[in-house]
Amino acid sequence: MALTAIKGFNDILPEESGRWHYIEQAARSIFELNGFSEIRVPVMEKTELFCRSIGDATDIVEKEMYTFVDKGENSVTLRPEGTAGVMRAFIEHKLYAQDPVTKLFYLGPMFRYERPQKGRYRQFHQIGAEITGVCDPLSDTQVLNMLVSFFHEIGLDEPSLQINSLGCPECRPAYRSALCLFLEERLESLCEDCKRRFGTNPLRTLDCKVPGCVEATKGAPSMLEHLCGDCNLHFDSVRHYLDLSTTPYSINPRMVRGLDYYTRTTFEVVTGLLGSQSAVAAGGRYDGLISQLGGPAIPGIGFAIGLERVALLLGQRDFTTVPDLFIATMGTGERDTAFRLMDGLLKSGVRVELDYECKSLKSQMRRADKLKARFSVVIGENEVKSGKASFKRMSDGSVTEVALIVDEIARTLKLQ
Ligand code: HAM
Repeated sequence: MALTAIKGFNDILPEESGRWHYIEQAARSIFELNGFSEIRVPVMEKTELFCRSIGDATDIVEKEMYTFVDKGENSVTLRPEGTAGVMRAFIEHKLYAQDPVTKLFYLGPMFRYERPQKGRYRQFHQIGAEITGVCDPLSDTQVLNMLVSFFHEIGLDEPSLQINSLGCPECRPAYRSALCLFLEERLESLCEDCKRRFGTNPLRTLDCKVPGCVEATKGAPSMLEHLCGDCNLHFDSVRHYLDLSTTPYSINPRMVRGLDYYTRTTFEVVTGLLGSQSAVAAGGRYDGLISQLGGPAIPGIGFAIGLERVALLLGQRDFTTVPDLFIATMGTGERDTAFRLMDGLLKSGVRVELDYECKSLKSQMRRADKLKARFSVVIGENEVKSGKASFKRMSDGSVTEVALIVDEIARTLKLQ
């Protein structure tokens, strides 16, 4: 049997990794600008952490977790998302004691046993950010603006921001009852999953993509019409600050999210370019999560960006790094000179490639072309003797004579 990767688990090949670095660097710089620091938490946690945070009646916990019993008879799970583990670490290390407002970001693989398709994988990567300790709507808007700036920074202006409010434990139960009343009369038109959700998590029926369910839930009562006074005020203020910062957004009253910890503001950044995998980033406020996990009553809000989906949206742009210079040699006699130059140039930050195997000049030049080197130089006996060589700019064939001195070459290449 051929040894291949597991279904839904992808290799990120060298030609792709430039795109990933570009995305990761943009996120890091915007998050750091906003005062967020990186936290790295394990990819595996006790299963109970996810049941208690994401919720027993969610698709993630019911059917998508990679859970197994380890050799010590403990039930452990590969993290399906980042917020739960970050909040577990936040509580365990009492990060709240250092500063009442904590801003954290993280980046790494997540695991969900979903049906793989374009933009949906079983191992995927998220870049996430979380603020804890503030319930002011201003922080909701800062998080939203930071997310929108990230997409702007990487040149993606098509995905758009949608927001909603899921209310709080005060107002959601009444909404849930109103929705159940509405659904009860339409139960027969719902898919099998939604019939089950009706009993466990009725809000999720609003999010179901099955055409019969979309049709049956048209005209369902909206959470926004059932918000209590405080939640209403909160949502209005978030919108006020979004308007103040001229951030474009729309309200999607049917957005319910697939994790149970959310309260009040929820949001998604959606694209029309990835078929049914339309959310490229998503998040929301979770004011009850930290206390639910055994920590103090501290509110929080955050989001996660799906790296694979963003990489897909960046499309054909080329992110590979190319050598500044390819050094070709006429024969073995010039190897010392070529090596000395390469070593010195690398130490001064110039990307250099040379031929390792003493191949023919033609084959060396083919490699220079393939690597898309910006410049090439051929070193033979004459060049070694004269201490000078012709540096060819590969894009137009123009040639500059430069002394074979590391600083001279570095300066010439950087100038051009
Ligand atoms: P989520 O909506 O489950 O939220 O995931 C966030 C993003 O991860 C999605 O919008 C999508 O871009 C990406 N994603 C999710 N599943 C897959 C998959 N199977 N394949 C590829 N990409 C995927 C959360 O995970 C929350 N922890 C977000 C959050 C942070 N809320 C508050 N703080």
